[in-house]
Amino acid sequence: MERKEFIKRYLEFFHKKGHKIIPSASLIPEHDPTVLFTTAGMHPLVPFLLGQPHPQGKRLVNAQKCIRTTDIGSVGDSSHLTFFEMLGNWSLGDYWKKEAIEWSFEFLIKELKFKPGQLHVTVFAGDGEAPKDGESARIWQNLGIPGERIYWLGKSDNFWGPAGMTGPCGPCTEMFIDTGKKPCSKTCGPGCSCGKYFEIWNDVFMEYNKTAEGKYSKLKQKNVDTGMGVERTITMLQGKKNVYETSVFLPVIKRIKEIAGIKNENGGQENSIRIIADHLKAAVFILGDEKRIHPGKKDQGYILRGLIRKAIRHGNILGIKENFTEKIAEEVIRIYQEDYSELSKNRKFIIEELEKEEALFRGTLERGLKEFENICKKSKNKILCRDAFLLYQSFGFPIEMTCELADEKDKKVDVNGFKKEFERHQEISRQGSEKKFKSGLADTSEQTTRLHTATHILGQALREVLGSHIQQKGSNITAERLRFDFSHDKKMTDEEIKKTESIVNEKIEKAMPVKREEMTLEEARKKGALAFFDGKYGEKVSVYSIGKAGQEFSKEVCAGPHVQNTKELGKFKIVKEEAVAAGVRRIKAVLVS
Ligand code: SER
Repeated sequence: MERKEFIKRYLEFFHKKGHKIIPSASLIPEHDPTVLFTTAGMHPLVPFLLGQPHPQGKRLVNAQKCIRTTDIGSVGDSSHLTFFEMLGNWSLGDYWKKEAIEWSFEFLIKELKFKPGQLHVTVFAGDGEAPKDGESARIWQNLGIPGERIYWLGKSDNFWGPAGMTGPCGPCTEMFIDTGKKPCSKTCGPGCSCGKYFEIWNDVFMEYNKTAEGKYSKLKQKNVDTGMGVERTITMLQGKKNVYETSVFLPVIKRIKEIAGIKNENGGQENSIRIIADHLKAAVFILGDEKRIHPGKKDQGYILRGLIRKAIRHGNILGIKENFTEKIAEEVIRIYQEDYSELSKNRKFIIEELEKEEALFRGTLERGLKEFENICKKSKNKILCRDAFLLYQSFGFPIEMTCELADEKDKKVDVNGFKKEFERHQEISRQGSEKKFKSGLADTSEQTTRLHTATHILGQALREVLGSHIQQKGSNITAERLRFDFSHDKKMTDEEIKKTESIVNEKIEKAMPVKREEMTLEEARKKGALAFFDGKYGEKVSVYSIGKAGQEFSKEVCAGPHVQNTKELGKFKIVKEEAVAAGVRRIKAVLVS
């Protein structure tokens, strides 16, 4: 069965059982600072699992795009992926274990036609914090699953969640398909990593909330949260041994082999091919997300950068010397664009970001690898934090990549030392960049200085024309133009643009003086100066005022520099007004003399 058909059947099955179909949420969690990515379908539903009524009711179902960074290290085996799709059905204080398990069974056997004999399940064995789940075991037995195919496991296997540090969680029952392979040992069973038992579905019975103190308190309502892995289930449905042989990976794998000129891969190559396929798929989905994440130095951007760079390094292992990530991205987009329209909508962004990141990293990869060899020669069995940091800073090697390289040589890396150094450095560079880029100014020629003053006038003019909600979201100035991003959720009308232009030009013609004063940020705020940056400004800040004392048109905390008088600016013209993100507009403008 194909992916599309499978997902459709799942949604329809639960729709018939009274569930409302809800769309996939963003990969970047909206209101949860405890995790970087959406790791499961329940994630966007946390407020509702905690008791807030959901507008669609008490029974929900969907297919959710997910990223699990905890599984990155296992990528390459038969079933673990960084990006995957999860099917989920939920009861928000409605049905409970009996319905959930019976429907799982019905869907697996009647709809998907797995044989009851292939099905093995696990249930929670209980511990000091939560009792054993005899109820689930009895329900399975009543459905005909014999005791020897019901396994009792502890918290690490059969108690799910919370997704972050706190939140809803509870015991779960997991469903595995026996692939028919020989057991690897006497103790081989569901949960064993040999691949005989393929985990495809998890029914979680959320009755607890884990608090910040680490306590499990009972939730107001009992919820069911299930998660079924799309890639894993279609692996079983398509009679394959691993996720990479299914139709959601085959075209990508084929393309990688084509580019690398591989006919029959060997074991080492297979691992690299799988890592490239997985990591670039994840990267495409992160880049394609509406939240517009760029490869970068922290949070999601850091993970994204690590995925892309690791894929490039594995490309290097396969002998791929030219840029290839965007070619793989095209395959991924082709497979998923019908269901995730954001991928085609953001195609240009995805491709451009990949190209940029690849160009950046290719510039240092070879030299970094040589440096790594030298470091290995002089180190015994541990790579020092100093060396790991050098690889990061000078050659752009994410620490995970250095660990992987070290692992291949049976060496360890001082990861903790690296992390401390990394944090210390981020602090220093944060302070530095605040000083340098507070004004968004990259150089200080006469023309950029003029454009900078024009930016202040523009900001104030926009507030007059569009309203006081206008906040500066970003500024970038080159010798040719200014670029100003601001908070506003509608396209500006021609009339508004004209009006803004004429206010700016009027202020220029009035030949207003530009004055700089120094004061503390607090004083500046008291005097009504605008300060758009939350970072630390240091003791004293500069405040630039445009207009005579007492009748200033604009007053802003800013590092400067600015012209002395607005008459130096020339004529102001807006050349473009466009959207950059939800609720953020961008103006490009020039000064003509
Ligand atoms: N939250 C559970 C999981 O991720 C079920 O959706 O497995």
